[in-house]
Amino acid sequence: MTTLDTDAAPALGGPMLAQERRLVTAIPGPRSQELLARKAAAVAAGVGHTAPIAAVAAGGGVVVDADGNSLIDLGSGIAVTSVGNAHPKVVEAVQRQAAQFTHTCFMVSPYEGYVAVAEALNRLTPGGFAKKSALFNSGAEAVENAVKIARKATGRQAVVAFDHAYHGRTNLTMALTAKSMPYKSGFGPFAAEVYRAPMSYPYRDGLAGPEAAAKAISVIEKQVGAENLAAVIIEPIQGEGGFIVPAEGFLPAISAWCTANGVVLIADEVQSGFARTGAMFASEHFGLVPDLVTTAKGIAGGLPLAAVTGRAEIMDAAHAGGLGGTYGGNPIACAAALASIEVFETEDLSDRAREIEALMTARLETMQAADPRIGDIRGRGAMIAIELVDPATQAPAGALAGAVARRCIADGVIVLTCGTYGNVLRFLPPLTIDDALLSEGLDVVAAALAAEVAA
Ligand SMILES: Cc1ncc(COP(=O)(O)O)c(C=O)c1O
Repeated sequence: MTTLDTDAAPALGGPMLAQERRLVTAIPGPRSQELLARKAAAVAAGVGHTAPIAAVAAGGGVVVDADGNSLIDLGSGIAVTSVGNAHPKVVEAVQRQAAQFTHTCFMVSPYEGYVAVAEALNRLTPGGFAKKSALFNSGAEAVENAVKIARKATGRQAVVAFDHAYHGRTNLTMALTAKSMPYKSGFGPFAAEVYRAPMSYPYRDGLAGPEAAAKAISVIEKQVGAENLAAVIIEPIQGEGGFIVPAEGFLPAISAWCTANGVVLIADEVQSGFARTGAMFASEHFGLVPDLVTTAKGIAGGLPLAAVTGRAEIMDAAHAGGLGGTYGGNPIACAAALASIEVFETEDLSDRAREIEALMTARLETMQAADPRIGDIRGRGAMIAIELVDPATQAPAGALAGAVARRCIADGVIVLTCGTYGNVLRFLPPLTIDDALLSEGLDVVAAALAAEVAA
């Protein structure tokens, strides 16, 4: 039973919501506080939250709370609502599909939506070779299955992931994830045969791409051995690890080594995929053609869907019945994905992501010129971050990043942090945000940074 009084809620979300930052109460307002008290009593403490609000509607570039506050959305629910929250085409597709059938289980009675999503993914992911796909529910599940497929295809067991990597919260994906707190601490033992290699991190390692790749390959050869290695998994632009963009030449060198050694290269594009970085997939920026690609998040406009897509001969290595799950490729999620993919393509959202990049980086560079605490600006498209540091030592300024993000939220802008050291402010606006709102959001970030000097 829901009892929260949401008279303040607009009847509909989506792009028709007033595109404005509007604070009518302090954040959290009384209704949000009421829900957060219920959350504290009813929801496990391990499930945290960033913005202390009760969301009641969202769309375009805003999230509206139960108190009538309208916050600028620079997070997209962690890179999910790239087509915009409650996009009318997604809403219509979901409603139509829900009225037809909500579930049959694709493994019991197949349906067209699933096949059409697989066809679209096979067409859109990098590589001109024959591809196949399998659908799942979450990014972590896609990663788990990509590893299963690579192991079956190669007959080998070891998997290499990188420093700062984030691949999810299930047992195998915790093992692949680098950062202990909060993702892994206390949750072991972790899956076996997972090894870690150094990532190219230009701001901190100062290495050119080929040098960084040689270092990683040496670790892999010495500590794992190519003959034992099923897969190398990498985020072409790291997400939770700090929006780290590898140096030019790093990814192609890793990819060439994998090919030469019969190792499956998995690009985890769960966060960076679907127009987010100004290309349909971030791999494209680096000329990377992975053997397998994992996707989720932006794929379905907010509905839970994930996929593994890749070379047909690798994808077909798993025996019938070896892949799947009750809900994987749910028909409503597939309908939402097909509508979202149509929006990505017809509205050229990759182009919009590049416009957002130009607006954000120009503004952030101006801020950086006057504020040496902004050590690095990086990312692509609408996946941009600033790394905050102690100007004297370049030591990560995690407390500052947390304080700035909290201040932004209190001032009506949802901003997320990330990074191994928690010192990165990341900006992931919906690709439907308008320029005025995005600029206003960055004004608030600038003011929050300035205020934290004074604080
Ligand atoms: C690169 C990457 N892989 C995997 C995941 C896990 O996805 P999910 O939370 O849908 O399980 C995430 C989530 O943030 C991610 O960013």
